Amino acid sequence: MAGEDEDGWSSVAGEWAELWGGFADPARRAVIAATGIGSGFRVLDIGCGSGELLAMLDRLGVAAAGIDPAPGMVALARTKAPRADVRLGSAESLPWPDGGFDVACAFNALQFAEDTLDAVAEAVRVTKPGGLIAVCNWAERSHNDIDTIEAAVAAAHGDEPIPDGDLRPAGGLESLLAEAGLEVVAAELVEVLWTAPDDDTLVRGVLLGEDAAGQAAGAPTVLEAATPFRVAGGGYRLSNAFRFAVARTPA
Ligand SMILES: C[S@@+](CC[C@H](N)C(=O)[O-])C[C@H]1O[C@@H](n2cnc3c(N)ncnc32)[C@H](O)[C@@H]1O
Repeated sequence: MAGEDEDGWSSVAGEWAELWGGFADPARRAVIAATGIGSGFRVLDIGCGSGELLAMLDRLGVAAAGIDPAPGMVALARTKAPRADVRLGSAESLPWPDGGFDVACAFNALQFAEDTLDAVAEAVRVTKPGGLIAVCNWAERSHNDIDTIEAAVAAAHGDEPIPDGDLRPAGGLESLLAEAGLEVVAAELVEVLWTAPDDDTLVRGVLLGEDAAGQAAGAPTVLEAATPFRVAGGGYRLSNAFRFAVARTPA
């Protein structure tokens, strides 16, 4: 049911925030620049996770709101951005009236909606006429070192790597927004690095959501696949990329 944490994000909220919460900051800054978000704007972050974007928006003087179906994520977001209006719920049914936001955005979240197009339509509903919708997601696998490691983990289980789907490749987000009847005004590829200072952090980050036994079993595969990404002096540096597209709602 929409609004429930079906994917279990609450159980990994703390580790998500610790290991992955900040890595999308370059994409967040790029979307803020592309949309012209600034002081006095009203901005909604759909699938706000542990609240890093909300905190960034608050520092800019934005009236920030966020929503997430995972109670653990909502609790962290409220702590990280105490002035933001953070609600429990999902992209499919946003508990705000029509036309109240200047910009609605979703980072690395819309792929979890039951119907992506319905989620975009709901974002449009709560955004003012002539406002902006920004959707940001992982770029296709070929851009992401993390996908090389995840492919090795999948292969160790006899599985195929998770396919890119419609949203990740170039033009995917633009097609989604155009299908929703919006005028695409910007699109970009942004490098997002992920670093791990040691083997333990690398394994916990890649195998987020696995229990201790699963992490111990998967560690040799992760460490071997990550060999090309080792840095001198220890630790790992993974180059990855996000894509975003921004579209204007009908005036
Ligand atoms: C990969 S995390 C990204 C969090 C945050 N946007 C960020 O970039 O750090 C995905 C988030 O989407 C949320 N999510 C899952 N299903 C959702 C849905 N149907 N609507 C909105 N958010 C959803 C999860 O609870 C989780 O917090």
